Amino acid sequence: MQTRSAFLLLAMIASCHGEEDLKLPDPLTDAQGKRVTSAEEWKKEVRPRTLEFFRSQVYGRSPAAPAMDKASSSFTPREMPGDSKVTMTDCLLKFPAPKGELQIKVCLVEPKAAGKPVPLFILINNRSPDLATVDPPNEFWPAAEIAKRGYATAILHVAEIDPDKNEGFKDGVHALFDSAPRQPDSWGTIAAWAWGASRVIDGLAGRAGIDPAKIAVVGHSRGGKAALWCGAEDERVALAISNESGCTGAALSKRISGETVAVINKAFPHWFCENYKRYDGKEQDLPVDQHQLLGLIAPRLVYVASAAGDDWADPRGEFLSCVHAGPVYRLHGGAGLENETMPEPGGHLHGGRIGYHIRPGTHNLTLVDWREFMKFADGKWK
Ligand code: GCU
Repeated sequence: MQTRSAFLLLAMIASCHGEEDLKLPDPLTDAQGKRVTSAEEWKKEVRPRTLEFFRSQVYGRSPAAPAMDKASSSFTPREMPGDSKVTMTDCLLKFPAPKGELQIKVCLVEPKAAGKPVPLFILINNRSPDLATVDPPNEFWPAAEIAKRGYATAILHVAEIDPDKNEGFKDGVHALFDSAPRQPDSWGTIAAWAWGASRVIDGLAGRAGIDPAKIAVVGHSRGGKAALWCGAEDERVALAISNESGCTGAALSKRISGETVAVINKAFPHWFCENYKRYDGKEQDLPVDQHQLLGLIAPRLVYVASAAGDDWADPRGEFLSCVHAGPVYRLHGGAGLENETMPEPGGHLHGGRIGYHIRPGTHNLTLVDWREFMKFADGKWK
């Protein structure tokens, strides 16, 4: 018993020590090292610099948005098997590109007869491309349940934008938009997916029945990294939702817990820009950390979800990122997290502009997660 208490005490000291040691950049400090004191100053002095750092050193630079070719894009309604309360539409969005045309297939599910425009959840799908059609529906995208709760939802498979392969950036949007040679800050695959979600917003925000002021972009794991980057880059995103996005998503890199920068760059060399590899094993040299990525979304809504058994994504690091993004939200006059005590598995914090929950169990996007996202959105939007 004594040994066990001594061990617990040591473990507590070790973990507290770890967090005290965590030297994070101040999300409110400008280039001269001066702390800004107003939201206007932050927007002018800090936000562009922070965004530029993430662009040039982490995710890479995405091309300017092409104007959608509205005349040749199409929206084809289809029966939702066995469900008369929702409608399904196959959308084909077309965009001119320097080397051809980008065509994006998206499946949209909407509540029938909602009576007013509804919010939209766009899922960046990094799982099977047939999730839009499987019967029974998969929890990863419970479209009918989402629609019955009064939301529209669209699913974008990542390969519509850029296949998740390390093949030298020869296919997907790279083949259509990139000019050779690649630069150290050329966009990687995660940035391409984020940019792709923005093209879905181009296609759907103007649709009758969709409320363009209430668009959420959701992603799980690698898709969650992309959802957060989309929220940072595209101010039309009213709510960015990261489900267990971990390293270079919501989790703090400087904690060096779970997956690290060197490990992710080695396993997935195509996800980020070439410059990011400079920080392999050198997280302390990163002038930013991921709480500043969340801060870039302020004062818009951001949501971070963790799973208790998902050590690879570092749940504690994901939570602390929310805590340390708090000053940016407070500067804008609202709360970040409702409070700064990490909930027990099964708990959530939905009171502030930053939402958080931690689900018992392992790495996945489940109905439990979706119900939490919708509860949070209900509280903000209904
Ligand atoms: C790997 C990778 C993670 C990623 C995850 C996923 O585990 O290391 O960074 O989030 O795949 O996308 O499921």
